[in-house]
Amino acid sequence: MAGTADPIRINHADAQEFVETILRAAGVSDKNSTIVARGLVQADLRGVESHGINRISSYLARVRNGVLDPKTEPTLIQITPVVAQVDGHNGFGFPAAYLGMATAIAMAQTFGIGMVSVKHSNHFGMSAWIVGQAADAGMMSLVFTNSSPALPVWGGRSQLMGVSPIACGAPGGETSRPFILDMAPSVAARGKIYKALRRGEKIPGDWALDADGKPTDDPAEALKGVMLPMGGPKGSALAIMMDVFSGVLSGSAFAGGVTGPYDMSKPGDVGHFLVAIKPDLFVSLDEFRERMGVLYKRVVESDKMDGVERIYFPGEIEQLTEEQRLRDGIPYVQDEIDALNAEAEKLGVPGIRVAGV
Ligand SMILES: NC(=O)c1ccc[n+]([C@@H]2O[C@H](COP(=O)([O-])OP(=O)(O)OC[C@H]3O[C@@H](n4cnc5c(N)ncnc54)[C@H](O)[C@@H]3O)[C@@H](O)[C@H]2O)c1
Repeated sequence: MAGTADPIRINHADAQEFVETILRAAGVSDKNSTIVARGLVQADLRGVESHGINRISSYLARVRNGVLDPKTEPTLIQITPVVAQVDGHNGFGFPAAYLGMATAIAMAQTFGIGMVSVKHSNHFGMSAWIVGQAADAGMMSLVFTNSSPALPVWGGRSQLMGVSPIACGAPGGETSRPFILDMAPSVAARGKIYKALRRGEKIPGDWALDADGKPTDDPAEALKGVMLPMGGPKGSALAIMMDVFSGVLSGSAFAGGVTGPYDMSKPGDVGHFLVAIKPDLFVSLDEFRERMGVLYKRVVESDKMDGVERIYFPGEIEQLTEEQRLRDGIPYVQDEIDALNAEAEKLGVPGIRVAGV
């Protein structure tokens, strides 16, 4: 069974080159291929395999079905000195979000804050890569998106809201890690169910209900039902919040209107909401860093509950995974490698390199 096989380790640079080559063969520009590949490989590096390079097959299926334009470029309109709008023109979500955050950062460098709304976009994978784009520029950030219906509203029983991740970040102190929160408002991200299906694994019984409204550990049955919100009505309200900021505000689809990345019937029309904030608006940068260091230390050195070996700062587990995978390679199962190579074959490009870790 795929889920029990020994993993095959791939060097991140080989994964990056493989995805870039496939995307270029599918008509994506060099620049955008690099942006998409970087976002996907970074997810695999951080252990967020639900949003890694295995997403390529579904993205390319949407290109082949004519519902995602691989060649288009996102465009930008400046609304006020600190507000801009990006139109993704139904291309890949990654370049639209990248342009949005790059613009937000540039505005924040001059004015302290930059806010960008993105419309007519697509799935952009793991939100944390956009938080990372801001952190690399020394910025705090908010990264919101809406997504296709998967979650009932509290008290409801059918899919309406997206499992839309809420992400934000702040640079760390001299000796502490940055703060990176990236979480779906459901008990687990739906991509984790697709990953379990791909790998022939079961899922925990509290993640989803099947089509009859019963808890299930079978990923295929879970995908026919609904995801469960985290914290009951609070998770459901956070999903609605993502739709207000990313959908209603942007002019993109909302209220259950976004088309999912595995649905080949029509364009995604996803909306995003991106904010970059300079961390030294109210205290000096040195003081901010020092205060982040204090917060980090207080959190990770907090008294531990019975059975807990270590307390982590948000995003820290993923950063530790990234450090290890940069050294040792990214683990994939054979079925995943086969699926990726099948995509490469369709486009007449070489398969993924498995040696060299
Ligand atoms: N683009 C989309 O439409 C979409 C939709 C859903 C999810 N996603 C992505 O799916 C990914 C997974 O989401 P998720 O909600 O399953 O994430 P998760 O539950 O694995 O992690 C959520 C957050 O909790 C933190 N965390 C987890 N365990 C911790 C611990 N022991 N101590 C301290 N902090 C801890 C993580 O660092 C992270 O910030 C995210 O990257 C998200 O962006 C994307």
